[in-house]
Order: sequence, then C-alpha cells, then structure tokens
Amino acid sequence: MTADAIEVRALGAAEAVEAVPALARVLVDCVENGASVSFMAPFTQAEGEAFFARVAEDVAAGQAILVVAFRDGEIVGTVQAQFARQPNQPHRFDIAKMLVHSKARNRGVGAALLAVAERAAAATGRTVGVLDTVTGSVADRLYARAGWVRVGEIPDYALWPRGGLCATTFFYKRVGSAA
Ligand SMILES: CC(C)(COP(=O)(O)OP(=O)(O)OC[C@H]1O[C@@H](n2cnc3c(N)ncnc32)[C@H](O)[C@@H]1OP(=O)(O)O)[C@@H](O)C(=O)NCCC(=O)NCCS
Repeated sequence: MTADAIEVRALGAAEAVEAVPALARVLVDCVENGASVSFMAPFTQAEGEAFFARVAEDVAAGQAILVVAFRDGEIVGTVQAQFARQPNQPHRFDIAKMLVHSKARNRGVGAALLAVAERAAAATGRTVGVLDTVTGSVADRLYARAGWVRVGEIPDYALWPRGGLCATTFFYKRVGSAA
C-alpha cells in the first residue's frame, strides 16, 4: 500500500532485526516531540533499540506483525498488531506503537499503516482488534476515521513524557470475516 509514494508493508523476522536502529530513531523522535507512548523523556536511542529488539523477537516468534512505512528507502513510521496471548483469545489482537516521524506526518502515513496492520491481522484469522490512545489526540481521530469504535475513556491513565496526566480512550474494531 502506498501513501504519497510511501511504501507500507509488514516486515519479516530478519528485516525486523535489521530495522531496529531506524525504528528506534522514529520512537525517540515521537517521545522527544511529546507523544505519550509508554515512555518518559529523555528517551535514548539505546532504550528505543532495546524496545524494538524485543518486538523483533515477537515477530520471529509469530506473536506480532510489525508494519513499517518507508519513504525513499528510509523508515518513517511503524505500527504493530500484537496477538493476544491468552489461550481463550486466539481471535484477538492489539494495535500498538503507532508512530510516524514528525517530518512525515499529515500525509496519510498513519492511516496507511493502520490499514495494512488490520489487513495483515485479518489474514491470520484474527477478527477483533483493541487499542487505546490519548483522548482527543491526532491518533484518536485517525482511529475513529478508520472505523474503530470508541468504548470509553479512562481519566488520568498515563503520563505525558515530561509529566502531567492524560486520559486514554479505548477502541475496538471487527476485521476480516467479522467486519
Ligand atoms: C498519530 C500519528 C501516528 C498520526 O500519523 P500521521 O501519519 O500524521 O497520520 P495521518 O496523516 O493519517 O493523519 C493525521 C492528519 O493528517 C491529515 N492528512 C492525511 N493526509 C493528508 C494530506 N495528504 N494532506 C493534508 N492532511 C492530511 C489527516 O486528515 C489527519 O488530520 P487531523 O489531525 O485533523 O485528524 C502521528 O501523529 C504520531 O506518530 N504521533 C506521535 C505518536 C503517537 O501519539 N502515536 C499514537 C499512539 S496510540
């Protein structure tokens, strides 16, 4: 799938390992620019690489799909579909770590990443996706536009990277044969 000549696709296990430094650079950029995505500022390249090295292990273990956006061969965005590990939820996945580098935003990359992740999860037989995001954020609007259903809001759920609490909204979406 392409958006403004941007290639968006899932990575294989070896590619995921190779992409770790570039993915970490996107994560560092997002945290440093104020995104509430699990981490606090200051956030280092080494911490980002440690995080994505674990994601690459999940890809190799078949527990996650790692979707990446390339612009002129450079990684500018990513998202994951993580498979639920509970034995009674083999049909469920979580969308996590939707990240677009600040220099590549507002061109449809986020929407394209999400569409590819949903399709890839559906292709494995998953039928229900769950995600959460900062209430009222750009991502909140993006998910709603893509047909994700707002379930509810939890106040004071997480911290911004430099402190201060923010609310989180939970969403779900039926995909594939359940859509
Ligand atoms: C949330 C995030 C991933 C969105 O990525 P993105 O690539 O900018 O997303 P899109 O381009 O699909 O949509 C963003 C906006 O650009 C607009 N847009 C999309 N294509 C466009 C185009 N060609 N021209 C102008 N505007 C465009 C969209 O309508 C949307 O507008 P809105 O903010 O008014 O709702 C990005 O802002 C980000 O990485 N933020 C930091 C990390 C984060 O918070 N992630 C969410 C975790 S749940």
